[in-house]
Amino acid sequence: MFGLFRKKRRRACDGAVTLRPRDCHTHVVPEVDDGSRSMEESLQMLRMLQEQGAKRVIATPHIYPGRFDNEPDPLRRSFDGLLAEVAKHSEITVELELGAEHWLGPGLLPRIEAGKLLPFGPERYVLFETTTGSETPDTLMDVCFALCDRGFTPLLAHVERYRYLRGESGLELLEDLRSAGARFQVNRTPVAKRATPRADFVKQLQERDWIDEVGSDMHRPTASGRPEAPRRAA
Ligand SMILES: [Fe+2]
Repeated sequence: MFGLFRKKRRRACDGAVTLRPRDCHTHVVPEVDDGSRSMEESLQMLRMLQEQGAKRVIATPHIYPGRFDNEPDPLRRSFDGLLAEVAKHSEITVELELGAEHWLGPGLLPRIEAGKLLPFGPERYVLFETTTGSETPDTLMDVCFALCDRGFTPLLAHVERYRYLRGESGLELLEDLRSAGARFQVNRTPVAKRATPRADFVKQLQERDWIDEVGSDMHRPTASGRPEAPRRAA
């Protein structure tokens, strides 16, 4: 009995992260960012996510000034176009909701103050991403406080990517972020074949029960969810 329990617990912390019924991070709105390139591609992505167990898909197009200059209202219109098309395809039964992946740059604090955000879910999550290097972004904690003050829940996108969150100092920062009210989204990951810093980090999160939400971060209707690498000429 004890052995069984231990086995179960070990399996739960193997670095693998599987999709949950609500996929909290996707790029399924067509032609607004580096995700879906057409309505047909969007429909295909939704069919794939449904087959993979998703019941609810949160569309989170980039709001990334200078790279993807999206704003909530135009995104709402593009999303409505997707909803109208999905309604014509009875085989697609996943529920859809619009959010966004907000870029933490100099413009995010003013954007929060102006209320130009796309939150989702009963949690009023605001999904946001940051640079991935080893330097902690200056305004990280301020953004979390500003969001919480306004009744939102900051949701850090693919938290496993950021080098500044690794190691002992990273662990302290993760604790501070949680205390400030932030929650963590992890991209789904297969079982790690070998130890990597990212797999170890995900295991740490699992052991602490700090994976709040999971996302596919799907950009294309491919097995990896990413653009297929171009084939090399023979
Ligand atoms: Fe993303």
